[in-house]
Amino acid sequence: MQDRQRTPGRFVGSSDGTSTTGPAGDSSQQEQEQAVARRRNFAIISHPDAGKTTLTEKLLLYGGAIQQAGAVRARGEQRRVTSDWMELEKQRGISITSTVLQFDYGAHTINLLDTPGHQDFSEDTYRTLAAADNAVMLEDAAKGLEPQTRKLFQVCRLRRIPLFTLINKMDRPGREPLELVDEIEQELGLLCWPVNWPVGSGDQFRGVIDRRSRQAILFRRGERGRQARELEMSVEDPRLGELVEEHLLHQALEELELLDGAGADLTLEAVHQGDLTPVFFGSAMTNFGVHPFLKAFLELALPPMARTSSAGRIDPLSSQFSGFIFKLQANMDPRHRDRVAFLRVCSGTFERDMVAHHARSGKAVRLSRPQKLFGQDRSVVDRAYPGDVIGLNNPGVFAIGDTLYQGRKVEYEGIPCFSPEIFSWLHNPNPSAFKGFRKGVNALREEGTVQILYDTDPGKRNPILAAVGQLQLEVVQHRLEHDYGVPTRLEPLGFTTARWVTGGWPALEALGRLFNCKAVRDSWNRPVLLFKNSWNLQQLHGDHPELGLAAVAPVVSGMEPIAL
Ligand code: G4P
Repeated sequence: MQDRQRTPGRFVGSSDGTSTTGPAGDSSQQEQEQAVARRRNFAIISHPDAGKTTLTEKLLLYGGAIQQAGAVRARGEQRRVTSDWMELEKQRGISITSTVLQFDYGAHTINLLDTPGHQDFSEDTYRTLAAADNAVMLEDAAKGLEPQTRKLFQVCRLRRIPLFTLINKMDRPGREPLELVDEIEQELGLLCWPVNWPVGSGDQFRGVIDRRSRQAILFRRGERGRQARELEMSVEDPRLGELVEEHLLHQALEELELLDGAGADLTLEAVHQGDLTPVFFGSAMTNFGVHPFLKAFLELALPPMARTSSAGRIDPLSSQFSGFIFKLQANMDPRHRDRVAFLRVCSGTFERDMVAHHARSGKAVRLSRPQKLFGQDRSVVDRAYPGDVIGLNNPGVFAIGDTLYQGRKVEYEGIPCFSPEIFSWLHNPNPSAFKGFRKGVNALREEGTVQILYDTDPGKRNPILAAVGQLQLEVVQHRLEHDYGVPTRLEPLGFTTARWVTGGWPALEALGRLFNCKAVRDSWNRPVLLFKNSWNLQQLHGDHPELGLAAVAPVVSGMEPIAL
């Protein structure tokens, strides 16, 4: 995946030696520099119910992007009632798409890459993380690490992006903070540096102590509001003893001392390398701790940096525009049967109506009608900078991982395929509808709605749908029927795990006959092994330790996938 030079506060020149000063001159160069320095982009990873929607809403309140608490949730409800947008979403009452929320806070422009709430769509979340420069891991204080958070953490780990941890719901009884921190260190192998530390929890939650300033920030129950004015005072202040029970303060200070005695130092380098996570405690619902978190996040997060491409590292300050597509979404507005491709800008300045090259096809494309999407609202974008995400109208030209560029050819590394967990034959019961069936399956694969695998027996021509969650399969069936007029039938295969054979077909053939697994080919004709359970996978590992198996497929570039 993208590998970036991490030099905090400084941008690295592009390896191709091109000047970072563009033909447009110094003033536009300066504007671009300022825009990049101002930008911070991140995605939130969490298990359902940890409070992602609540936190998102509070962050948007701080940014002035929404005016009242409840607006994000209310939007969802209103949408379900009044809009005919995406029938399936309505039926399920869940959000299955993700977009970007941009807002200004102080001197910064923040891009929050919103990810689907439902875990069945985590493949979409994985791809969104490919476009994020930072991630925020949100935990419920009573639950600690949960399955979905663990999975998403692994995706962050692949790219080693900076990870910030916010332990939420401190106003409710939770686990011991030391235990929560220890769990992250032990299970994820990630060093923790608590930036603030809680005083009490649940009914006795009194606030947090900022570790660097030794200021206590007091929690006042029952306060909600736009920007809670947090009461702050030094831990040495004698008034604190009147406001907080002595034993709670004593315990927090003692634990802080323990933390100071052990563990690593907080350095920008360790955060930016993804080796150390700054940890915060708060309560998103009561808006407590969100402001201190946001302030520290902006201080410590990574700005848009140079990214690796076929032409070396591309500096965000390069005068030439470039970016890559990380997500496709069809039929956001069924009346127009539209398709939107989400582009992460990596370098240069994007301008409305500009003509850029499409690296995969070599064609020039006019990027007209670029959009910024805020929930379901859209506005036309005139300009966008590195770190931003824009929605482009996609007349079937763009696929996930595609690069768009101006000037010298560049191609970003693309987005890998993540290991699916559900597999099903897709049958088309009506042979006369094969044309629509083929068209639909190819389009949905290209959009990344689902992965498509094929049997190694050429006689078995039905595609195998491979997904992370069951809902993905339902979306495929729904879309085939409603958009392509083809009702289909699913036949589960009963496998739960997939691994790519890194040595390709020769490595697989060298093994001879295999038991308890099935070999299939992916859309790039690479061998994939399917297993019924992890025990069968371990067994193969044991029998053939020399066989390389990967849970994430390497990125393919410059090759067209097999179409049905
Ligand atoms: P999600 O997007 O991660 O799935 O979580 P969401 O924000 O929807 O929050 C899940 C539930 O947890 C919500 O309650 C929400 O109000 C609650 N919650 C979020 N943050 C906090 C917090 O800091 N403290 C406490 N006590 N609760 C919190 P719900 O009952 O499911 O919904 P609602 O009735 O509040 O709308």
